[in-house]
Amino acid sequence: MSEEGITKLIRSDLAAFGGYVPSKAPEILSDKVKVPINGITKLDANENLYGCSPKVNEALGSYPYFNIYPDASQTELRQLLQGYTGVGSEHIIVGSGSDQLIDLLIRLFVGPGDEVINCVPTSDIFRFSTMLCNGKLVEVPRDEDYRVNVSAVKKAITKKTKMILLANPNNPTGTPTPKQDILELIDTGLPVLADEAYVEFSGETVTPLVPKYDNLLVLRTFSKWAGLAGLRVGYGILPPQIAGFLLRIKLPYNVNIAAQVAVRESLKDIDYLLGKVKVIVVERERLFNELSKLEWLKPFPSQANFIFCHVLNGKAAKIQQELESRGILIRHFDIPLLQNSLRISVGRPDHTDALIKALKEVGGG
Ligand SMILES: Cc1ncc(COP(=O)(O)O)c(C=O)c1O
Repeated sequence: MSEEGITKLIRSDLAAFGGYVPSKAPEILSDKVKVPINGITKLDANENLYGCSPKVNEALGSYPYFNIYPDASQTELRQLLQGYTGVGSEHIIVGSGSDQLIDLLIRLFVGPGDEVINCVPTSDIFRFSTMLCNGKLVEVPRDEDYRVNVSAVKKAITKKTKMILLANPNNPTGTPTPKQDILELIDTGLPVLADEAYVEFSGETVTPLVPKYDNLLVLRTFSKWAGLAGLRVGYGILPPQIAGFLLRIKLPYNVNIAAQVAVRESLKDIDYLLGKVKVIVVERERLFNELSKLEWLKPFPSQANFIFCHVLNGKAAKIQQELESRGILIRHFDIPLLQNSLRISVGRPDHTDALIKALKEVGGG
């Protein structure tokens, strides 16, 4: 069969599928801008620049059973996460990153033509997974400070609505959603996905409410606070019947054994990791103050490990590129609801210093 013949057999709704724009890996940038990999300041993907717990490195270096499949029913991981979250293991499911659980939950509820309410602007992964299911995205804009418009969300509900998606705090804006607003959304009876990827930095969670409601779906991750983005491990805290469905529809060995070992070791080193979270939160406030001093930038207060900024002189793309050529990566957005804006991860103090110096050099002109 010709190549065109094969393409004709692809699902027609995926023919024009746009895909997801991922962050750039440091080795790719290193090649492009001729800055050595250890000289790259990576502030574009909300990673933890303190790295993971040293216990993880030690344990992985001497782990003897990489030749054996992990436990498909995730018994140890779910037990460990019961200890960390305070919610019973029957509520818990683990994924290869919380992205995988967003995808599985949307697949569980959404079929062709079903509607999904998305509070935009927000993480593109919600659009991505909804489109993969041939669902219909119903976008409800946030207000000018990027707060969720709860009454507009409720008005957008139709007979076809299957889910309400909410990142809390929101990515890329860092905006929290008050518990009261989430309760109002739960009262609609629809599945409400509260994606709490940055919860350790915000301190606000609806996790304790999960056992009380059959439609609250909370997702969290080890990518941010525990510095395990590269090992891909996130988890859901869900009504037990939904956790049971996900156990059945997930790929059997979706969480690899290195991730399992890393979770075990991270949870033995919680004080160390939460100490780093505290340091990042302090640095977030310093970064916010420094960014506020640049009259051509408008940073927004953030409850996460990044800061979102409007670029008032219209030069967001140029600033991002100039920084990139110096080996400093930040995220630039230029889509309808995110014109001329940047998102900058909170790194270590030396990263803040290098970033601010570079912004002063390139930004004003
Ligand atoms: C809101 C939100 N959800 C989920 C994710 C994905 O996290 P993970 O690395 O666990 O897949 C991110 C990552 O940036 C995010 O910002």
